[in-house]
Amino acid sequence: MAIDITIRIAGEGGEGVISSGDFLMQSAASAGFEVMTFKSFPAEIKGGYALSQVRFSDDKILSQGDGFDIVVCFNEEAYQINKRLLTPGKVLVYDGPDEFEIEAHEGVACYAIPMSHIAKQELKAYISKNMVAMGAVCELFGFPVDSLRRSIHDKFIKKSQAIVDQNYAALEAGAAHVRDHYGKDPTYTFPEAREAKDVIIVEGNQAIALGAMAAGCRYLGAYPITPATSVAIAASKIFPKADGYVYQAEDEIAGVASTVGASFAGTKAMTCTSGPGIDLKSEMIGLAAMAEIPLVVADIQRGGPSTGMPTKHEQSDLFMCAHAVHGDTPRAVLAASNVEDCFYRTIDAFNLAEKYQMPVFLLSDAALSLQVEAIPRPDLSKIEIIDRLRYQSNGSEERYQRYQLTDSGISPMSHPGDPGGTYCATGLQHQENSAPRTSVEACITMDDKRWRKIKNIEDDIECTSQGPEKAKVGIISWGLTQNAVREAMARMLAEGMEVAALYPKLLYPVPTKAVEAFAARCDKLLLPEANYQGQFAQLIRAATGIDCIRQNIYRGEPFIPAEIVARVKELGA
Ligand code: COA
Repeated sequence: MAIDITIRIAGEGGEGVISSGDFLMQSAASAGFEVMTFKSFPAEIKGGYALSQVRFSDDKILSQGDGFDIVVCFNEEAYQINKRLLTPGKVLVYDGPDEFEIEAHEGVACYAIPMSHIAKQELKAYISKNMVAMGAVCELFGFPVDSLRRSIHDKFIKKSQAIVDQNYAALEAGAAHVRDHYGKDPTYTFPEAREAKDVIIVEGNQAIALGAMAAGCRYLGAYPITPATSVAIAASKIFPKADGYVYQAEDEIAGVASTVGASFAGTKAMTCTSGPGIDLKSEMIGLAAMAEIPLVVADIQRGGPSTGMPTKHEQSDLFMCAHAVHGDTPRAVLAASNVEDCFYRTIDAFNLAEKYQMPVFLLSDAALSLQVEAIPRPDLSKIEIIDRLRYQSNGSEERYQRYQLTDSGISPMSHPGDPGGTYCATGLQHQENSAPRTSVEACITMDDKRWRKIKNIEDDIECTSQGPEKAKVGIISWGLTQNAVREAMARMLAEGMEVAALYPKLLYPVPTKAVEAFAARCDKLLLPEANYQGQFAQLIRAATGIDCIRQNIYRGEPFIPAEIVARVKELGA
């Protein structure tokens, strides 16, 4: 029988919600299942509502799903937030019966486990409350306890053997309570382990670092900022293996400036940040565009404006990445939709930056940054890597024309030390030989050249679509929202609904040919996105004149498939 189970751990920051979810994820993945996680927590180190959700299935998981099957509530607040989702068939495991009371939930199996009491009174270790809960979960649903013990060991041995032992004891105490009071849950049973697949278990931000490495990036300069820091942390673990370097700069500007410098010197380079960091990096991004220096900027979006919601999902930096920087500044904006995409879109970002010698933004977001998936091991031999067009001296005495006017607009680039390749990489307007110049001719030819480069950029990045040739409703989506749309599409097509979907990866310049061709297939267009202004919808209208019906959420959480299905039904598909 096909398995598709979602288990949610809900509690407070500091109660070990995230570790618990990670342990369950590791168990499911090591038992050969597809896994996808969703985590949401406050910006505080301690306190505030936190959740960690693990979905596991036999089949490819397209999104985090609509909700949960099993919820484990570590405290009353977590119960109060989740109780409206307790519909018949679901299971509640909670810190009871003495900590707080629950209402009657018809058709819901409710298991009171005195997590706090056991941890405090019996184990004298309140921090292990989460492992009491996990012991109960293992016993109720048959989760492989050995695998949980392995996870406990691997995580806590760095602290001490005593902490490992204390958590083993907590696991056993939770399991014993279930054996003594309930027995197995009749509805959900963790299935037999499957044959292990050739997958790697990766988090969104790790996949960006791995993609950068695969693309040949050997320098990352950045300043720590939630939720982008873990890109740099992951890179710092892998780049040195290939003589690469990660520089934690003193601020955002130094992070990007050092990256532009590294790329100027001949190393593929990137910076990573979140929205507030782009505010600060803009001027340097303009320099990369003007001096035609390849630059990759990963923007792991968070809720804004200002410091906003550092740990929450939002897709609201698209305008900024499409329009940041004063003057007419060519750039491209790509977006990743899932963990595998984080890897491949990062490679695309480097390929575009190198090919067109300009800044390229890669958009991810707070939810995707933490999302863990088991993805097929990438076959590096099948990945196309593009390097910048290099200058080769022909030995003549003629001055090197760094910004040589070519049909494509792309000019061969020298690196410092290349014989005959000396030039002035300047933010000032310049002429072909790179000398600053503001003559009418220089202004026009150089602006035209920089924009000529990306006239056909849409052809570089495939834009896929799904569904029938003619549809009543066509959905255009980007970034993480594409996951919810993919799952919604699977359900709607199975119901025979006349609906199609377009999945752009390149958002700016807007892929007008793909959007116009898709619009011609559909009676109505719907564009769901997690921002207030309908940013991609507005960019599409500006580029094509096509108006999409907007579906906007701005609640710090991603779309779920059910709300896309509901809106498409309202539109009559
Ligand atoms: N026994 C011993 N230690 C345990 C434990 C157990 N049973 N369960 C958890 N812990 C430890 C964890 O190892 C972790 O410590 P570590 O960081 O030294 O590894 C700590 O307790 C927190 O547990 P964890 O499961 O990782 O998280 P949580 O669910 O309690 O939530 C966060 C805490 C994640 C919300 C919080 O720490 C955080 O990071 N907040 C966001 C901060 C941020 O980014 N702010 C934005 C600034 S702009």
